[in-house]
Amino acid sequence: MESKIFNPQAKVIIHLKDVYNYFKSGNSDPVTIEVDPSNACNHSCPFCISGHLHLKKFKGTKLFNRTMFKKEVLLKLVQDLSTTNIKSLNWTGGGEPTMNPHLKDAILYLKNNSKIKLGMFTNGSMLERFDLIDLVCESHTWIRISLDAGTAESYDKLRVTNQTNNFKVVLNNIKKLVEVKKKTRSKISIGIGYVVTKDNYKEIKDFANIFKDIDVDYCQFKPEIIQIERATDRKNEQISEDFWLNEAVTRLDEAKIILGEKFQCNSYKLEDLISSPGSYGRNYKECIGSQFQPCVGADGNVYVCTNHRGHKEYAYGSLYENSFIDIWNDIKKRSEIMNKINYEEKFCKCSHLCKPHESNKILWEIKQNLDDKNFKKNLEKKSQYLKKIIKHPEFI
Ligand SMILES: C[S@@+](CC[C@H](N)C(=O)[O-])C[C@H]1O[C@@H](n2cnc3c(N)ncnc32)[C@H](O)[C@@H]1O
Ligand code: SF4
Repeated sequence: MESKIFNPQAKVIIHLKDVYNYFKSGNSDPVTIEVDPSNACNHSCPFCISGHLHLKKFKGTKLFNRTMFKKEVLLKLVQDLSTTNIKSLNWTGGGEPTMNPHLKDAILYLKNNSKIKLGMFTNGSMLERFDLIDLVCESHTWIRISLDAGTAESYDKLRVTNQTNNFKVVLNNIKKLVEVKKKTRSKISIGIGYVVTKDNYKEIKDFANIFKDIDVDYCQFKPEIIQIERATDRKNEQISEDFWLNEAVTRLDEAKIILGEKFQCNSYKLEDLISSPGSYGRNYKECIGSQFQPCVGADGNVYVCTNHRGHKEYAYGSLYENSFIDIWNDIKKRSEIMNKINYEEKFCKCSHLCKPHESNKILWEIKQNLDDKNFKKNLEKKSQYLKKIIKHPEFI
């Protein structure tokens, strides 16, 4: 059965009104916005999708930039966002969002002045140290702690941790989150993330055994994506389908039995890795999804998507020069960049299985059928149905 939380296509269909508005006018506010408060990170995951921005081994290269949002620019951004129709905001990275000391002020502003729902991707190591646990439980729809390991030994080795940010600290922070959630009757969803890689797949079962007895809401597994900055050979850049089929899937099945309803998996990504190596399911001609889920980098640039962060040629503008609203409404600039990606480069500079990839499939299908009344009628029906069953629909 398809996931009720991790289902970008269903979430796009739920936002049909915004989708049709976009096709009609060529402009619509994003549904979700990804914001990177910090490019710096206190961990060094070798698989990190943003590693080119902050990992030591990239020091001195063109994209390396361990910057953080300045307070006044971050606060002006959230003030601007609160006047738009944007429905949700994810704190992500870049690097580790909780490293930015102004994150708390930005959260408080949004909590008190907007209807935007909040979510956070974090390594979870600094939640207690920076006194974020209560605030997150009061203000966020979800938080997901990226753990990606089943033992302290491999976690600490892989991420290169110290006494203040190691496995033990993170596990304690997760337990504290669960405790505060219960005590305050917060509705927050607490998720634990596991990016499956060749280094950690043997620990999937250990991980599942840890979380079967801790009251988190879900454990989410997703395959490692090799982003374009790390890929040397365009054709074979992702890990082979044999690995996913023979090594990963069997272990995920075991985890599913252990975790029961807590088990979640981005299986749509696994399907693309297993059944269409080479194209990885990129059967659309335009990246329309990016128009509903852009990314604001910690350098203040508004990027096409999270996967292009750091590459200035894919930035619509900088918040150090213009407001988010002015940047977003500069349709000429946005179209220039999207034409370059869609029709000049034809995605050759895009990472496979990028963030808007799954949304792109359905948005391209909708675009092809804009004149088909039956298609639209069925989609409308589906949209009504999905609204009833999909969790966190605002977070595409
Ligand atoms: C880059 S992290 C930044 C936020 C935070 N530091 C964290 O680790 O959650 C954002 C998300 O990307 C995921 N991620 C990192 N590298 C990845 C990769 N190579 N493939 C798939 N997901 C990845 C992380 O697990 C996390 O869910
Ligand atoms: S904790 Fe997050 S940002 Fe830091 S290295 Fe790991 S995946 Fe990247």
